[in-house]
Amino acid sequence: MMQFSRIYSICILFVGALVVLAQPPTDLPRQYLMRKDYFQLLKSGEFSIMDPTEKELYYRIESRYSFVQRLEIFRYPEKIKTGNLTSRIHPLTYRGNIFIFNATRNQWVDGKIEQYLQWFHTLYSIRWNGHSINMTNTAVELTHRFRDESGELLADFRLQLSSVFWRKKYDVKIYTNKYPEEIYLLTLAAFDRVTSSGKKG
Ligand SMILES: *[C@@H]1O[C@H](CO)[C@@H](O)[C@H](O)[C@H]1NC(C)=O
Ligand SMILES: *[C@@H]1O[C@H](CO)[C@@H](O)[C@H](O)[C@H]1NC(C)=O
Ligand SMILES: *[C@@H]1O[C@H](CO)[C@@H](O)[C@H](O)[C@H]1NC(C)=O
Repeated sequence: MMQFSRIYSICILFVGALVVLAQPPTDLPRQYLMRKDYFQLLKSGEFSIMDPTEKELYYRIESRYSFVQRLEIFRYPEKIKTGNLTSRIHPLTYRGNIFIFNATRNQWVDGKIEQYLQWFHTLYSIRWNGHSINMTNTAVELTHRFRDESGELLADFRLQLSSVFWRKKYDVKIYTNKYPEEIYLLTLAAFDRVTSSGKKG
């Protein structure tokens, strides 16, 4: 019995050192850390979306080998696919198509991500399910914010500067349940592709 409890506690210690698969939290605002995987040849960036201490995994964004950006997002712990993103070849700015699964309606809902060229700041426009959501920053700020036509702050993210040369990490905050959070996570993956490689498609 003694022996068993010792082995048991060793197992607990071991599991504790790994990333635990967990249900995304439901309370607001939600705070995530989105960490980019190490570089892989011929693949666009892949990401783990975790709690800020990097212990619990809530989503994975995985990439297919492709000339354009082709991503799929999986929700953990069930590892169910809840969305995808495919970029389109376009000369000056980023364009992508997204699909996000609505479990209540048991239906895939499609949308678009478009980058607009602006002086000194960023603008991505997302059209989804009849809504228009913009992701912008100001010239002096590192925080990028998502707002819809009502002007409500939906989510924001910020690159951790200390992570730039090693393994990029973004702090992500979500303030509302109005839209599926896959929208923000996939747009951030598109933004990361444009800022890290200069690729528009
Ligand atoms: C994205 O998901 C939709 C809905 O399931 C599907 O029709 C489409 O083919 C998917 N796109 C890619 C590139 O996998
Ligand atoms: C997003 O930006 C575009 C281009 O500046 C603008 O026309 C549109 O009204 C904005 N939409 C929202 C929801 O802010
Ligand atoms: C799914 O669709 C239902 C019915 O239209 C809607 O009430 C709900 O907010 C949607 N869920 C998400 C996550 O968008």
